[in-house]
Amino acid sequence: MICGRDKDSYLKSQNLKIFGEGKLNGLVEISGAKNSALVLLAASLLTNERIILENVPRLTDIEKMENILKNLGVNLLYKNNKLEIDSQNISIKELPYELVNGLRASFFCIGALLTKFGVAKVPMPGGCNIGSRPIDEHIKGLEALGAEINIEEGIVKAKIKKSINKLHGTHIKLKCPSVGATETLIMAASLAEGRTIIENAAREPEIQDLCQMLNKMGAKIYDFGKEKIIIDGVNKLFGCSHKVIPDRIEAGTFLIAAAATSSSITVSPVTPHHLEAVTDKLKESGSKITIKGNSITINGKDIKGVDIDTAPFPGFPTDLQAPFTALMTIANGKSKITETIFEDRMNHVHLLNKMGADIKLDKNVAYIKGVKSIKGMDLIGLDLRSSAALIIAGIIAKGNSRIYGLEHLDRGYENFESKLKILGVSINREFNKRTYVERGYGIKSESESLTKIKAA
Ligand code: EPZ
Repeated sequence: MICGRDKDSYLKSQNLKIFGEGKLNGLVEISGAKNSALVLLAASLLTNERIILENVPRLTDIEKMENILKNLGVNLLYKNNKLEIDSQNISIKELPYELVNGLRASFFCIGALLTKFGVAKVPMPGGCNIGSRPIDEHIKGLEALGAEINIEEGIVKAKIKKSINKLHGTHIKLKCPSVGATETLIMAASLAEGRTIIENAAREPEIQDLCQMLNKMGAKIYDFGKEKIIIDGVNKLFGCSHKVIPDRIEAGTFLIAAAATSSSITVSPVTPHHLEAVTDKLKESGSKITIKGNSITINGKDIKGVDIDTAPFPGFPTDLQAPFTALMTIANGKSKITETIFEDRMNHVHLLNKMGADIKLDKNVAYIKGVKSIKGMDLIGLDLRSSAALIIAGIIAKGNSRIYGLEHLDRGYENFESKLKILGVSINREFNKRTYVERGYGIKSESESLTKIKAA
């Protein structure tokens, strides 16, 4: 099994070749939510008993988190498509730098390790290509619960204050509804002494999924999904079985791809109210949406430009901003897309412009004038969701495209091209001898280096 760094460079030697002007048709099966499965894996550290997780998506981010847990002494076993997690033999309380570095979600283990074992050492998660990704809210909240925290040489060292033998419940008010900070503090508070109230808490479905599982394990968590979450600490948490919720971001990506190609598809299973802000915008821009149980069907029509401001749940998700921007490039009329969550999440805009889009970018606001068509190109996706946006653009475009940067895409979309192929898109994964970097394809100067690639 290729994992860690080798896997990234292996994926850097692959690309998706897309034959443009595609249409989608049929039913696509939605996988378990990446951003839920990651935090549920971290939460399994809170008990010595067995956790059985169902519907865990097979993604490189999940593989990285599994490797981190294995490094701590956790046993993981896939049996009949269920993941059995056994944390009774945890021996190390320090997460290994080389494994953490590529996975921000691994930092969320700090709350579980600290409250369960009284000590935790986790490398700083570092920034990535969508922003600085600070952890001040995580740190402040853990200190409020009674942790002593030092950051030395990039390692966050946390331990429970000598004067107390457990974390103590307290009232925490977050400066912003941070998903990760809310998750870290819920896990830390679950085994603390007394009541914790987290105000201005994030309300994302993935957090609600975490609280559902923790309550199955014996935690006492109330009002999750609201902006004030109450956690009454307990002495022990037990094993349980839990099914990961469907991935609302994957589902939204397919719905947007269908709208962009005036196609009709059904996505299932989904939890429709997890996607309300997205389906509302798709309806506003002209598509017909039908909801039946755990399925959503879209009939893409002529698309008109609409404005989007990303926001914490239940607002329009930042993770679908880039795919929706790709849709707006060929909408009739103008649209304005404002990214309010991350300071550097517009990497896809200049790449869409290379394909012929007409987007003016002013800091985190994209002013889009819809064009009749865009042209296929060879481009590199620079982060997980901008890669998805480029694939949607490649399906829309006249002519063929090769999209590189699959080391990002495979982090968050399970069998993406196979699912698109089943829907009727002409798309293939190509395996090259060398990575796009080795072949001199620098992110800065795409155009001339692309001719080099074509020549090679
Ligand atoms: C989670 O990241 C998701 N990742 C992200 O999905 C998602 O985009 C993001 O939430 C917002 O919904 C996982 O769940 C693994 P945040 P997280 O803390 O927790 C600021 C994807 O594509 N902030 O809610 O890192 C921060 O700078 C990924 O699947 C602080 O200021 O996001 C940002 O501006 C990308 N201090 C804002 O909050 C802190 O201590 C939201 O970040 C923490 C965050």
